[in-house]
Amino acid sequence: MKFFADTADIDAIKDLAAYGMVDGVTTNPSIIKKSGRDIIEVTKEICSIVDGPVSAEVTAVDAETMIAEGRKLAKIADNIAVKVPLTWDGLKACKTLSDEGTMVNVTLCFSPNQALLAAKAGATFISPFIGRLDDIALDGMELIADIRTIYDNYGYETEILAASIRNVNHVKDCAIVGADVITAPPSVIKAMASHVLTDKGLDAFLADIAAADIKIL
Ligand code: E4P
Repeated sequence: MKFFADTADIDAIKDLAAYGMVDGVTTNPSIIKKSGRDIIEVTKEICSIVDGPVSAEVTAVDAETMIAEGRKLAKIADNIAVKVPLTWDGLKACKTLSDEGTMVNVTLCFSPNQALLAAKAGATFISPFIGRLDDIALDGMELIADIRTIYDNYGYETEILAASIRNVNHVKDCAIVGADVITAPPSVIKAMASHVLTDKGLDAFLADIAAADIKIL
């Protein structure tokens, strides 16, 4: 499973990269706003740190302008994935940019049929939003499972990039149902290492190390 960092925080990306825990990065307009930086400048810096796909989202809603923005974003680096919304115009931009050899991440996916359309439009990634479905008492994980079934039924190569991940159980469930990629805040990825019994066991070992004065170096 690939891990993408859902952030434009350079220090957090570098930190995850040092552990081999970042296979790519996703951003969106809210993440760029939070960074307080120019979209082109911060995206370029992220691409210099991470070899894998770095998603940068268009700002337009009409296909023609989305395509022009996508072409500009794609020039930032070879590992840019242009992110377009799952609208009829977004699907046209997806088809055009994909045909030009640009990676496209179709975002704001909330239904299996939307994911089917994105695959047919040649998307590299489909981003179904788990947390935002859970927020309105729907089942985000059921969406991931449904898309997995549909893509496998027909052999679509579009990768399922599970997004809007809010907790470690989302990551585990995505791995079980077979999402290709998760994108999560760095805090969620780091929280995956935590377990109360690991802490308790380590405390007991440390007590015995001190009591027996065990030394290796
Ligand atoms: C990533 O591609 C998405 O934009 C992001 O995961 C959305 O997460 P949120 O619902 O927590 O804002």
